[in-house]
Amino acid sequence: TQPLRLGIAGLGTVGAGVVKIARRHADLIAARAGRVVVVTAVSARDRSRDRGMPLGDYAWEDDPAALAARKDVDVLVELIGGDAGPAKSAVEAALRAGKDVVTANKAMLALHGAELAALAEANGAALRYEAAVAGAIPVVKVLSESFAANETSRVMGVMNGTCNYILTRMEGAGLPYEEVFEEASALGYLEADPTLDVGGIDAAHKLALLSALAFGTPPAFDAVEIEGIERVSIQDIRFAADLGFRIKLLGVAQVTGRGLEQRMSPCLVPANSPLGQLEGATNMTVLEGDAAGQIVLRGAGAGEGPTASAVWSDVMDIARGLRVPAFGRPVDQLRVIPPAQSAAP
Ligand code: NDP
Ligand code: HSE
Repeated sequence: TQPLRLGIAGLGTVGAGVVKIARRHADLIAARAGRVVVVTAVSARDRSRDRGMPLGDYAWEDDPAALAARKDVDVLVELIGGDAGPAKSAVEAALRAGKDVVTANKAMLALHGAELAALAEANGAALRYEAAVAGAIPVVKVLSESFAANETSRVMGVMNGTCNYILTRMEGAGLPYEEVFEEASALGYLEADPTLDVGGIDAAHKLALLSALAFGTPPAFDAVEIEGIERVSIQDIRFAADLGFRIKLLGVAQVTGRGLEQRMSPCLVPANSPLGQLEGATNMTVLEGDAAGQIVLRGAGAGEGPTASAVWSDVMDIARGLRVPAFGRPVDQLRVIPPAQSAAP
């Protein structure tokens, strides 16, 4: 069997983590995938930056689309970010060439997922994005594989590590917002534009992807009703605690008699409930299927190792020849309810 050759676009928090796993676990990966998986080429903005590891073994491309087009790259691993620009151009170049793509880019998929999935399908390529939703938690896998023969009625959970980190550190350590924000930044949790995190938009991107997988609609980010944590104060957190509650940025997507409702907003949850006990950047997703019943998944939602682990789970599936459609397939036409009409969860 030929080696599977990866081109890694983006060597920041996640990209560096992916390369580190390739170096640390080359033998384990080859044994479990049944073939050698190698990084052949990489791309980032600043070639001279010290990234804490040797990069001399890999070809370098300044342009991620050129990386995608290289003859020695079979799979593009897109870890640049941004809903358009170089990330999307590189992904399109790879898919047009019939190359599989693994990405952690929820913003791009929430806004352009349907178009990119169609491009992948037209060219016989895979589009995989386990790392885009809830870090290390294998929620994409569970919805697309384990729940494949279920009718899903509801998907909910805490899907942004930064917000959960900020809310729980402010409460637990009594630290001011600015200080915990800096901590989250140092830990690599923040989006390049952190207003996406605290504004609930990053979590809404993820909810739109889970909805698409669960309910077979195209990702409908515009239909998510969104409120972030910017207006949650330390007083709100303390009042909630006095009453036995904690404040969580909670996403809910559910099918009601009117259609598909999607909402992301700060909610009160009982402090002693599983959701109430989530600390730091931990995420939790709760899935409800008609046959499986309820499944609860909990784990690290952001950061280098957890996200790189999810990227590698997609790479391993590709190496093993597993093919799964990017999003769910609609069984009936489901009406997606726009924000103003959604009921509160
Ligand atoms: P970083 O900002 O740490 O890294 C981005 C990388 O992209 C950098 O290496 C940067 O280069 C490179 N880059 C930017 N523009 C270009 C360009 N025009 N050409 C080539 N390379 C470019 O981001 P993260 O690693 O945190 O995130 C990457 C993706 O993963 C995003 O989509 C994010 O939403 C997603 N994600 C992140 C998680 C996390 O915990 N951080 C978790 C889950 C998903 P340079 O280093 O030279 O500046
Ligand atoms: N900024 C995101 C978060 C990264 O904090 O959850 C993981 O998707």
